Amino acid sequence: MLILGADLATNRRRTSVKWRAFPEDVLPLWVAEMDATLPPAVVEEVHDLLTRGDTGYAWPGEYVAAFTEFAADLWDWSVDPVQCRTVTDVMVGIEEMTRILLPDGGRVIIDDPVYDAFPLHIENIRRDTARVPLTAEGRLDLHQLERAFAEARADGSPAVYWLCNPQNPTGTVPTKNELTALAEIAHRTGVRVVSDEIHAPLVDVHADFVPYLTVDPRGITATSPSKSFNLAGLKAGLVVAGEEASDALAALHPVVSYAASHVAIRAHTVAYREGRDWLEQVRAEIRDNRALLGDLLAEHLPKARWREPQATYLAWINLTHLRLGSQPARTLAKRARVALGEGANYGPSGQGYVRMNLATSPEIIREAISRIDDLVDDWQE
Ligand SMILES: Cc1ncc(COP(=O)(O)O)c(C=O)c1O
Repeated sequence: MLILGADLATNRRRTSVKWRAFPEDVLPLWVAEMDATLPPAVVEEVHDLLTRGDTGYAWPGEYVAAFTEFAADLWDWSVDPVQCRTVTDVMVGIEEMTRILLPDGGRVIIDDPVYDAFPLHIENIRRDTARVPLTAEGRLDLHQLERAFAEARADGSPAVYWLCNPQNPTGTVPTKNELTALAEIAHRTGVRVVSDEIHAPLVDVHADFVPYLTVDPRGITATSPSKSFNLAGLKAGLVVAGEEASDALAALHPVVSYAASHVAIRAHTVAYREGRDWLEQVRAEIRDNRALLGDLLAEHLPKARWREPQATYLAWINLTHLRLGSQPARTLAKRARVALGEGANYGPSGQGYVRMNLATSPEIIREAISRIDDLVDDWQE
């Protein structure tokens, strides 16, 4: 049975934001949630906790242990449990560590385009933002990054770069060479790197995920199985500090770690420990959905441009040549009844793009492209 196989009627019973934010007749392929059934062991764990009334405060040692085993297994990355802390979720971890690295203000450098919540979280901690465009292939532009790092540091202020590894929305996976060069530039300019690795378990078989801390002992990573196992509704995450970032980790106030939920931590622990077969299957289904999208675009929307992602379940599609106006996602939600991410929300270079969530059933993807195709035919008549 497909993990991402639920039909439209079944998915419509979902109550999270993806399925509730738009009217019933809109196909929601926007926010990064999966229309997935969960690993059975996770369901059993949460069920048992609730049945026993085992719903107190968290005891997170096993969560850290499960993550270190998972990281060693998947990426051959040896993580010292002493370097890990629990946090409420990935973005809280990134915010809190950035507050510590930039105690009196300073600049946070992010990609253009990048996960659309990044600027909101920078706004929340009241730090400055600078954007650095990715290359035309959606990869890190090391020359531009070096220039931005040097500029941020020119008056002696501290600066942090939020690496999105793998990259949302382009789905690229930085190589070891790229990350080594990034670490070198960061050291030279005195910029600290905080790496968001939430999508790492969703790297495709033909790309290698490189944990940033394996190339930079001064780096800090934030991660969680919330994206890869669709557990965002069960809030928890981890911050991992490189060997030379222990001082920053020590400055993280314990109350930040206490805020992670016990039920979430248990569910995440079981996902890491017992969800490997499920993860393999969901990655295969995502791969099939990418291939399906490629075929559908070629057949029905040949003017759409996209590059098949190496990771994530997101597709970053350039619709400029379809001439759907300056906000193509808005037009598509209104006229085709398909909700996608508006490219410009991910940064100025996303103008004309949409982000499409492929973690759903092949039928829903087919229906979405058919609706867009119908609109484009009418539109261009
Ligand atoms: C790159 C990235 N980081 C963080 C998050 C959010 O993670 P959390 O809910 O754990 O804060 C998302 C959600 O889509 C994401 O894509």
